[in-house]
Amino acid sequence: MLNIKIIIGSTREGRFSEKPAQWIFEEIKKQGDIEAELIDLRDYPLPFFNEATSPAMNKGIYANEVAGRLAKKIEEADGYIIAAPEYNHGYPAVLKNAMDFIYNEWNKKPVGFVSWGGVAGARSVEQLRLVAIELQMTPIRNAVHIPSFWTALDEGGKLKTESLQKSADDFIAQLLWWAKALKAARIS
Ligand SMILES: Cc1cc2nc3c(=O)[nH]c(=O)nc-3n(C[C@H](O)[C@H](O)[C@H](O)COP(=O)(O)O)c2cc1C
Repeated sequence: MLNIKIIIGSTREGRFSEKPAQWIFEEIKKQGDIEAELIDLRDYPLPFFNEATSPAMNKGIYANEVAGRLAKKIEEADGYIIAAPEYNHGYPAVLKNAMDFIYNEWNKKPVGFVSWGGVAGARSVEQLRLVAIELQMTPIRNAVHIPSFWTALDEGGKLKTESLQKSADDFIAQLLWWAKALKAARIS
């Protein structure tokens, strides 16, 4: 069974990120035979990265208790979906900080992105792909980009997903293909 973690990539009050994160979490659970879990960065209140040892060298020993907890969750996964906003044409600092705290546990696993913003989060996702490569992840080609996110919620505050469904289906299929392939490679 594949273990997929969905990371909510912003923490501010009133954030939009939890809507697409929750939706893609429900979508991936529909696949069956997947152990899916939401990771909310609010539950991992990390300081700005200031460790004496580079996470690449820490042999799984985390001086910071919160980072250690997060690393355990990251280690469990066979793949990741990150729901990532665009802040000033880049990724949110809170997300990059969490990514920086961990190294080995990310390695050799696929990551895909769900994003939104003025240009549907495209600039943030492109930058996150570069970060993912350095963390030895495989960033997948497909993504879910939510255009005009300020019109994307219905009157009840629910994400309108009809126009996103095809890209979500293709995205999930591609992520799971890579998750399966890389899991087989990791254990061979
Ligand atoms: C600090 C900050 C910078 C932003 N910069 C951009 C930007 O460069 N491009 C963009 O499309 N949206 C930008 N936005 C708007 C966000 O896309 C929008 O607020 C979105 O809801 C952010 O996701 P969140 O609600 O999960 O934090 C910015 C928002 C904030 C708070």
